[in-house]
Amino acid sequence: MTLPLTPDELLTTTRAVRRRLDLTRPVPLELVRECLEVALQAPSGSNAQTWHWLVVTDPGQRAALGEVYRAQFARYAGSRGFAGRLFADRPERAQVQQRVGDSAAWLGEHLGEVPVLVVPCVATGGPLPAGNQAGLWGSLLPAVWSYMLAARARGLGTAWTSLHLGAEAEVAGILGLPDGVHQGALVPTAFYTGETFQPAPREPLDTVLHLDRW
Ligand SMILES: Cc1cc2nc3c(=O)[nH]c(=O)nc-3n(C[C@H](O)[C@H](O)[C@H](O)COP(=O)(O)O)c2cc1C
Repeated sequence: MTLPLTPDELLTTTRAVRRRLDLTRPVPLELVRECLEVALQAPSGSNAQTWHWLVVTDPGQRAALGEVYRAQFARYAGSRGFAGRLFADRPERAQVQQRVGDSAAWLGEHLGEVPVLVVPCVATGGPLPAGNQAGLWGSLLPAVWSYMLAARARGLGTAWTSLHLGAEAEVAGILGLPDGVHQGALVPTAFYTGETFQPAPREPLDTVLHLDRW
């Protein structure tokens, strides 16, 4: 069963869900599998499909990932790039950023309690290639977004996260990843509280659109 959303409604209301993740309601593995089946329809270079999906539901494993994430979040929160500190010179945008920062801080505390943590990976069989990695990550990240869209369509909330990558080797140890398998994201997944989601404020298209040349 999916929600009655038009394609544009789905695409414009798949938000980073953090505080509204329902930590108390179990998520059936079958529902996660459905979302992943959708994700596997995404494109990949040469159709190689070198992706792997770690779905973590075990409380001990989630707690271990939660501790890593908490420590990485603390480092990030103290950095200049912290979402809550960006665009301080533009009051309207700073207000949005403040909300993002507060919401991210909540997840920093609670990630290990989210019922399902999905870690999408790409297998290269060796170290990450030097040079432009767009081809590599382009063969994983569209599928991750498809997973998140499929989840939204099924009443699940998700948030794209990457802070754990600051401790990538430690996370690889927790998950038992073999050498040559690289993590692309960590996607907490849960049912959400409240009714629905709205499109978010974004910078106007004309500030980033270039016709024919820059
Ligand atoms: C590559 C990438 C990495 C991100 N990493 C994190 C993260 O580590 N933690 C987090 O809480 N949100 C993370 N986000 C979520 C962004 O903060 C979120 O997409 C952005 O604020 C827009 O949210 P909205 O669509 O709800 O407006 C990440 C998003 C992307 C695309």
